[in-house]
Amino acid sequence: MPLYHKLGAIPQKRHTQFRKKDGSLHYEQLFGTIGFDGMSSLLYHLHRPTQVKEVGKTLDVAPRAAVEYNIKSRLLKGLEVRPEDDYLQSRKTVLFNSDVHIVLAAPQESMTDYFYKNADADELLFVHEGGGTLKTLMGDIDFEYGDYLLIPRGMIYQIHFDTPNNRLFITESYHPIYTPKRYRNWFGQHLEHSPFCERDFKLPQNLKAHDEKGDFVIKVKKQGQLHHMVYATHPFDVVGWDGYNFPYGFSIHNFEPITGRVHQPPPVHQTFETSAFVVCSFCPRLYDYHPEAIPAPYNHSNIDSDEVLYYVDGDFMSRKGIDKGYISLHPAGIPHGPHPGTYEASIGKKGTEELAVMVDTFKPLQLTQAALDIDDGTYYQSWL
Ligand SMILES: [Fe+2]
Repeated sequence: MPLYHKLGAIPQKRHTQFRKKDGSLHYEQLFGTIGFDGMSSLLYHLHRPTQVKEVGKTLDVAPRAAVEYNIKSRLLKGLEVRPEDDYLQSRKTVLFNSDVHIVLAAPQESMTDYFYKNADADELLFVHEGGGTLKTLMGDIDFEYGDYLLIPRGMIYQIHFDTPNNRLFITESYHPIYTPKRYRNWFGQHLEHSPFCERDFKLPQNLKAHDEKGDFVIKVKKQGQLHHMVYATHPFDVVGWDGYNFPYGFSIHNFEPITGRVHQPPPVHQTFETSAFVVCSFCPRLYDYHPEAIPAPYNHSNIDSDEVLYYVDGDFMSRKGIDKGYISLHPAGIPHGPHPGTYEASIGKKGTEELAVMVDTFKPLQLTQAALDIDDGTYYQSWL
């Protein structure tokens, strides 16, 4: 996050004595990325954050390929993924490569008896249905329909839901997720042409330090394994922090679309970037206003990327037979385009209410059995 933020109490100068009321020291932790070169924050704990009591059983959660080499366009009916009580068990990886896992989840219960940390990947949660609070050791972020939650790797968190009706579209990224560099100036500030800016971000708040000893389970995901670790103190014992590395939220409804006289290409919808994929937000907007414009996209050969579209709401102008929660996958190597009739039908239309999230990956995606279970099977022939 190219933004400085601080919460709670911190010492005047870093790496100096910061004492509690009883005279004992707080414990400083640097929470950084890319060695000591990336964004970082300095956290001040009541207890040493290193007090491992036990390491229990490890669960293999690495995705397995049911289709390793995919050349078919696919349509996955995302809402057919079954709701499950537990947040981690509810997460079903449908598409993956070595850079990114694309996950659908319909968790019903809040995470209350353990904490979770993804040690390998940044997690980008898109909230399709539901709401609640993301609780982290750096503060809380309330979320609702349409929010992206960006949780940097290594962040210990719990997720609490307001109701059992939740649908999440999750991107686990093995490369850091940033806002696009071209939207930011030399100092990292979002420029005037960016479709969003710092004011739109939901920053952590309500930092509360828990001074508790006991048995605290943290499930740590690393190398495709879910490790069961027991710590001696409550992980949310931070009294204050400052820096640039922290979780944040951003509502898709705050993305201000860029429009033109003729069709604008997908990069105008870009919201996040990594070195291995991009994330775009397709939001309600005015259509192209050249008198001869064709608002539907042209056929395109995304030779270098697999294109994943998650349909959130509204009518998707270039597609037929699409419903909420569906995922279309258009693989690299073959062209795709508007469905028959939609190209012509788009002429003269003034605007669209479509809402969708796109993930374009630079390496091909593999499909899991969970994806095949919700695959319509015939989508690849739907242009005939
Ligand atoms: Fe496309």
